[in-house]
Amino acid sequence: MSGLTVLYDELRAYKRSRVLAFAVRSGILRSLELEPQTSTSVANRVGYEGTWIQPVLNLLVELQLAECDNDQYRLTADGATAKCDTTLDAFAGYHLHCFEAWLALPDVVSMKTGGGFHRQRIQNSDFCRSYLKSMDVIAQSNLDFLKGECREHLLGRVLDLGAGPATLCRGLAEDGQLDVTAVDLTSVVETARSLYGETEYFHWVPGDFPAWTPESPFDAVFCSHLLEYCSADRLDTWLKRVCEYLQPGGKAVFVTFLRSDDGQLQVELDMFELSTGVNGDSLGRCHTEQELSDALHRAGFVETRSRPFPTGPSYNEHLIVCEKPANKGSLS
Ligand SMILES: C[S@@+](CC[C@H](N)C(=O)[O-])C[C@H]1O[C@@H](n2cnc3c(N)ncnc32)[C@H](O)[C@@H]1O
Repeated sequence: MSGLTVLYDELRAYKRSRVLAFAVRSGILRSLELEPQTSTSVANRVGYEGTWIQPVLNLLVELQLAECDNDQYRLTADGATAKCDTTLDAFAGYHLHCFEAWLALPDVVSMKTGGGFHRQRIQNSDFCRSYLKSMDVIAQSNLDFLKGECREHLLGRVLDLGAGPATLCRGLAEDGQLDVTAVDLTSVVETARSLYGETEYFHWVPGDFPAWTPESPFDAVFCSHLLEYCSADRLDTWLKRVCEYLQPGGKAVFVTFLRSDDGQLQVELDMFELSTGVNGDSLGRCHTEQELSDALHRAGFVETRSRPFPTGPSYNEHLIVCEKPANKGSLS
């Protein structure tokens, strides 16, 4: 497949995802559920020009979320499910932002805008609040699975790295099991602190990983969807840093999207990473299971175990648990 074909395929997938996100967020799915309607009627109800609405309806029909009979559009059973899906809704909101960021990619990469689009938007507390809330909704959908899997590994003093809303660790700290330090960028931590508060066993700490240094090492590190922000050439440095944060014998638990090993691009994932610009001009990447496992071993971890999440509306998430050997040193 030529580079140009790959590029065109990416652009097509990008447009389709963008259109679907628009359909969810603009209320088109909600409107179609009320009664069968013409495209003009949908346009009037949601308050957009018909020329905007027609391609959206075409895509909904192509994805079998809607069907059309005599210019009357109605929602299918899948469409009705999609309309009520809180995860899809959260993804749509977040991805609309990422799509905007994608348009600013040349600036993000060249750093002309002084530090990346997402990094700038996240300074805005309204944007940051909706970002944290959507991340929280997304995390809720697999919380029971995660709690069950992590309970035996996340014990004692736990670092939640790239915490976002810290959904899992806040819950475990409330249950009285852990003493959690949740680290994220300063602007995220400021908003998260005002949204979720702090307790004796749960503290927010602003820090730009991996430049941040804790006062003492932790018994466990939880790191959910941070590695996607890491470029291929920085992966070893980041994972070594995570290993340094741990006591000898400590556990690291990663949640991450994995790219399939067959070399196929997973376009949505690539766009998600490319568009954030959170870590300067270094673009993130979804790593393959093998790449990640090799890098974890190079960083000094042993006993790497990987488990896919239960199938859900999200992408292919994996839980990876590994251990730092008892004879390996920490940060001094
Ligand atoms: C995709 S979110 C995941 C949030 C949360 N862990 C979850 O799974 O719901 C990634 C988080 O990593 C944070 N992050 C990215 N780069 C970071 C860095 N260099 N230092 C600290 N946090 C970072 C982002 O601000 C963001 O909140």
